[in-house]
Amino acid sequence: MELSKHHNYPGKLIVLEGTDGVGRSTQMELLANWLAVEGYGVTRTSWKSSGLITRAIEKAKEKNALNTITFSLLYATDLAERLNSIILPALKAGLIVLADRYYYTAFARDVVRGADPAWVRKLYGFALEPDLVFYMKMPLEPLLRRIITTRGGLDFYESGRDIGMSTDLYQSFKLYQSQILYEFEQMADEFGFKTIDASRPIEDIQRTLRKELKDILSDKSLASG
Ligand SMILES: Nc1ncnc2c1ncn2[C@@H]1O[C@H](COP(=O)(O)OP(=O)(O)O)[C@@H](O)[C@H]1O
Ligand SMILES: [Mg+2]
Repeated sequence: MELSKHHNYPGKLIVLEGTDGVGRSTQMELLANWLAVEGYGVTRTSWKSSGLITRAIEKAKEKNALNTITFSLLYATDLAERLNSIILPALKAGLIVLADRYYYTAFARDVVRGADPAWVRKLYGFALEPDLVFYMKMPLEPLLRRIITTRGGLDFYESGRDIGMSTDLYQSFKLYQSQILYEFEQMADEFGFKTIDASRPIEDIQRTLRKELKDILSDKSLASG
């Protein structure tokens, strides 16, 4: 693959990171619509959405058949495939790529699942470095309340049930997500995340995101939409 760490393509790769329920989808929708209205070409891509790989991941999860390594490798393949088919072509065409989660999600999850941090970082060595990473941060308790009230329940994998932290789903979610939050916190400096307080109202967060994007949007190499 013709990939390098720092890309020099005319487009921009903007990442929205954060744990389950922090509002990534909500903010991404608003950002994409706004950018399109402002005249930019926009492409969106989400974690685990590759046409080739997603079904394999879903099937393996249904059977609880993944271990630490196969979990890592499948998700890495998913990103490699999307880089190839979606992200790279868009960046070359001068588009703004909005990515809902990126390899930081893997860095957090895989390490919590027992992978060596250096190994996971190396595994994703093929991937382009984003131009900007927003980390939507929210404390565990309000996040838990938000997920239960809006989704009506907790997800098996987002609760780390596959790695048997607790047989109680609620306890398991708290244990697992607090470790994930810790990993994100550790990465914030390492990767220069723009940390966003995700417990604020939707419109406030959106305003902050738009303001933070100003420098990037002034780049004349971007294509119009
Ligand atoms: N800032 C916010 N304040 C209150 N509720 C929010 C906020 N952002 C999102 N929500 C709600 O929380 C739920 C999860 O949001 P969503 O965007 O799907 O999160 P994610 O994609 O990060 O999992 C949705 O029901 C959404 O309407
Ligand atoms: Mg979402």
